[in-house]
Amino acid sequence: MTKALRYLKPFWLSVLCIIALVYGQVQAELALPDYMSDIVTYGIQYSGIENATPQALRASTLAHMEYFMSSGDAQELESHYTLVKQGDAEYLSTYPDLANEDIFIHSDSTDLSDLVKKPLLIVGMLSEESVLKGMNLSSADQLWTVLEAQPQMADQILSQADSRISGYSDDNLKAAAIMMLKSEYKSLGMDTGAMQSNYIAREGVTMLWIALAGSVCAMLSAYLASRAATGAARNMRRDVFARTESFSSEEFSRFSSASLITRTTNDIQQVQQVLTMMLRIVLFAPLMGFTALFKVLRYPQMLWILGLVIGIIVLVMAIAFTTTLPKFRVIQKLIDRLNLVTREFLDGMLVIRAFNNQTVEEKRFNDVNTDITRVNLFVNRALALIMPIMTFLMSAISVLIIWVAARQIDLGTMQIGAMMAFLQYAMHVLMSFMIVAAIFIMLPRSAVSAKRIFEVLETRPTILDPKDPQQLPAANEPVVFDHVYFKYPKAEEYVLEDVNFTAQPGQTVAFIGSTGSGKSTLINLIPRFFDVSKGSISIGGVDIRNVTQHDLRSRIGYIPQKGVLFSGTVESNLKYADPDASEEQIQSALEISQSKEFVDTLPQGAESPIAQGGTNVSGGQKQRLSIARALTKKADIFIFDDTFSALDYKTDARLREALAVMVRRTRATVFIVAQRISTIMHADQIVVLDQGKVAGIGTHAELMKNCSVYQEIAYSQLSKEELAHE
Ligand SMILES: Nc1ncnc2c1ncn2[C@@H]1O[C@H](COP(=O)(O)OP(=O)(O)OP(=O)(O)O)[C@@H](O)[C@H]1O
Ligand SMILES: [Mg+2]
Repeated sequence: MTKALRYLKPFWLSVLCIIALVYGQVQAELALPDYMSDIVTYGIQYSGIENATPQALRASTLAHMEYFMSSGDAQELESHYTLVKQGDAEYLSTYPDLANEDIFIHSDSTDLSDLVKKPLLIVGMLSEESVLKGMNLSSADQLWTVLEAQPQMADQILSQADSRISGYSDDNLKAAAIMMLKSEYKSLGMDTGAMQSNYIAREGVTMLWIALAGSVCAMLSAYLASRAATGAARNMRRDVFARTESFSSEEFSRFSSASLITRTTNDIQQVQQVLTMMLRIVLFAPLMGFTALFKVLRYPQMLWILGLVIGIIVLVMAIAFTTTLPKFRVIQKLIDRLNLVTREFLDGMLVIRAFNNQTVEEKRFNDVNTDITRVNLFVNRALALIMPIMTFLMSAISVLIIWVAARQIDLGTMQIGAMMAFLQYAMHVLMSFMIVAAIFIMLPRSAVSAKRIFEVLETRPTILDPKDPQQLPAANEPVVFDHVYFKYPKAEEYVLEDVNFTAQPGQTVAFIGSTGSGKSTLINLIPRFFDVSKGSISIGGVDIRNVTQHDLRSRIGYIPQKGVLFSGTVESNLKYADPDASEEQIQSALEISQSKEFVDTLPQGAESPIAQGGTNVSGGQKQRLSIARALTKKADIFIFDDTFSALDYKTDARLREALAVMVRRTRATVFIVAQRISTIMHADQIVVLDQGKVAGIGTHAELMKNCSVYQEIAYSQLSKEELAHE
């Protein structure tokens, strides 16, 4: 998986942006609970009065408060206020009570809460009827009159009040003072309702902006993340494809083509998904978790709840992890198998129908399909279980938090708003933990995929270009097989043993032998589809292993045993050999290959479409177009692997004749594998193969005299008269 991360390197700028954006998103999201807490506490509970510092006080109230303050404190307090005389028109609209009384207005922004909260509270208490009754007084005014006469009474009241509020927390003291302040504001004729709605509106709008900023960050980072991840996946697919192209037949047989397809599609898809997730969440979750945890630390009395739940989550995830992980590998293998079966089914459709084996194929498909469904179901069920468990945990923890917090609120050590904020932060911490845990489940799955991808990427092809390649001679030179031995990778026995011959420029060398005698194998050694096991093949004295594959193959026109065409047109298929081929070249190739006749009858001639796999032309036509393709290229060496057996005798003969004319002109070397004696009897050299060994080399006439294997083949195909006649 770490290797897959390397593919993000080209997107480092995006990654940096994502980090910044995610940071912004976390900050925004985590700011919200605090605001909400403020709205609940100050906006709703305290009617929008943020702190206990009075904005304005009636002169009488201030005088009452000063009974319960030291003279120093009183002086300090007054220094922050300016006196407005009764009836001052400038302030009358804000403080209607100014009509009856002088008031003091807070003239700077100092927070005086600590100074005023106790005296405010006491003055407030002293206006309560029950308190007055306890002091045998009928009204508050009476109290103030008494106090004026006997100021020492204030100390008595103060000590009583002190004992009463000793159990209050600072917060609660402040809250009570704010309540008192609210009634003072009412007496001043101020609009406390508007103060409250203003506060809530102001905080609400700020929250809205923050939420918006958070969403924008989230969207941008999601966009960048998916862009970086898809980009990385694209590059990965490109590399896998390029690597696959460099594979020789040996590596192809190591990975089945079905598996290679899964690896380039499904596996890369998995990795891409996880990369996107990693970019978004792997940064987000821990950042969120830790920041939220940091905020939660303000409430140490509740932390044990979090610890408990995190413990449970870790346990649940560990169980889910160990049960599902081994299954992911199985799933990817099964997808390979599903692809294989589907491919074989589609490729072999006609054969399957001809042999009435639909039910067998259906069963084969069904088996894999059922397997894959079963494993997928298991994994999904296991993962699906996690969600309800987690939801239950979330609800349970909410209840637990509220239950514990209710007692704290009752004791006065916590505000309702703070509890709500804690609840949200706690949820954030838990969510982050769950996300991290989910990543731990996803990671191994994509690690399986990443491993499969890098298996391909890290496979070194066995056929390599030499470090300092030699050049093939510019002119066509002899091709020499020198004691060539070959055995297929992992096979025990040699398929070719001690093959020696020399093919001169302009010569036609034919290969004949029973099926499985090694003809295709032999000629596949020339373009280096495989390398010889022992001995060497050289062109003009240069070992073909010492030149680049590109150089070597650019000299060779190759026609495989099974004609292969690509989707496109007749012309595009020919130009596959040489994109710069002229019209003349194409026409002559069509002519020599005896394709012209049927191509001309096609509605659009050389522009006629060829279906995928060349299914809209006959087998023989496909073969002839394959030949035309090879001839379009100006090659020095032509290799025909049993290309002529799909042609009727007449076409075969005409084609060979035209080919002979061309070869004489270009002095190209031609290698022909054939089954029919008539196809090759005019060749300059015939190599007879028998179980990988050369049973004879020579012309038709020579071999007829001294090679029994050749004679056997010849007599089985032609009558004595025909042979004599030739
Ligand atoms: N990719 C491979 N891996 C292992 N063995 C192979 C492979 N291809 C062919 N063989 C074996 O090598 C031997 C020679 O095969 P080859 O295809 O060269 O025969 P051929 O002479 O071309 O036969 P035909 O006339 O049927 O085309 C056969 O016994 C075959 O089983
Ligand atoms: Mg063959």
